[in-house]
Amino acid sequence: NAVSRGEYRHFMLKEIFDQSQVITHTLEGRLGERHVFPRILGADADELLSRVHNIQIIACGTSYHAGMVARYWLEKLAGIPTQVEVASEYRYREVVVPQGTLFVTLSQSGETADTLAALRHTAQKGGYLASLAICNVPGSSLVRESDLTLMTQAGPEIGVASTKAFTTQLVSLLLLTLALRQVQHGDDEVQARLVSALRGLPQLISRGLALDSAIEGLSAAFADKHHALFVGRGTMFPIALEGALKLKEISYIHAEAYPAGELKHGPLALVDADMPVVAVAPNDELIGKLKSNLQEVRARGGELFVFADENIALEEGEGIHLLRLPAVDEFIAPILYTLPLQLLAYHVAVLKGTDVDQPRNLAKSVTVE
Ligand code: G6P
Repeated sequence: NAVSRGEYRHFMLKEIFDQSQVITHTLEGRLGERHVFPRILGADADELLSRVHNIQIIACGTSYHAGMVARYWLEKLAGIPTQVEVASEYRYREVVVPQGTLFVTLSQSGETADTLAALRHTAQKGGYLASLAICNVPGSSLVRESDLTLMTQAGPEIGVASTKAFTTQLVSLLLLTLALRQVQHGDDEVQARLVSALRGLPQLISRGLALDSAIEGLSAAFADKHHALFVGRGTMFPIALEGALKLKEISYIHAEAYPAGELKHGPLALVDADMPVVAVAPNDELIGKLKSNLQEVRARGGELFVFADENIALEEGEGIHLLRLPAVDEFIAPILYTLPLQLLAYHVAVLKGTDVDQPRNLAKSVTVE
């Protein structure tokens, strides 16, 4: 049952372009008229979800970044305190487990050694309400050993650098958030709005992917650089982290991500014409603050690459490259804004001539500690 990359030059590019379709699969059968079906987590999930008062999310790598986005959603939309941690830290720490804690693992493969060990550790320790695996591989160890599962439906992912597994994890985490809000707070307009936004997501993804050649045009500005900085605020901070990780993994350019408000606490010292700064700027309540952070970068001679909402007043100019994204609901924005960062990393790597699908020193699934 070999997967083919078809007309695409690399699996990674195919998987980036698969995202509209696989997100359709992830949503299939899970959306009602005005809310998400709680039964997506199992026939009698209602009762269990009503008892969730705290959430601990554990993952590694790209999956960890999806968990970081989910924290903002779960706290803002479901009002549930949420902690997110990499598995290799969590498993060796004396974690305090508040009453009613749902333990959530995120994993493409379901076989990552540290994530699996963290799950086994919690099973032994006890005191959790239940464990939930959000996973892409049916029958994987994580799926078999968890109480509940939510499959991401991304299909096989071959490229070592994760792309479609990440965006389908985000979609699944938003579904989980909305199911919790429904069970704990009842129907409301926010859910109706987000259900309708989710229905429109595959279409929106296609529009985002149409930026491909514009992004390819930007890639030359990165290929000869040794460092890059990614900034965002709110849910865009983990998206910046994911953008930096993609660039590191496949182009071997040292990239870091910062919450934009932290720039002046260190990274501004590094900014000069040789370190491109990538900013993700959807139209949310933090846009004004982000804009002043960007001025701080410009004032120090840093070259800016801004992925911004089409309705934001921002001008291209010397040292400011601007790429416009379609207007999007603030809760959906992290999913859409992932796309240009994936494409940027891809095109930079292709220009550099690296092995895009099999980057040096990395493995698709890390099954040893
Ligand atoms: C490896 C892969 C990454 C992935 C991480 C976690 O490092 O190269 O792409 O994000 O493992 O994998 P998982 O299968 O648990 O999501």
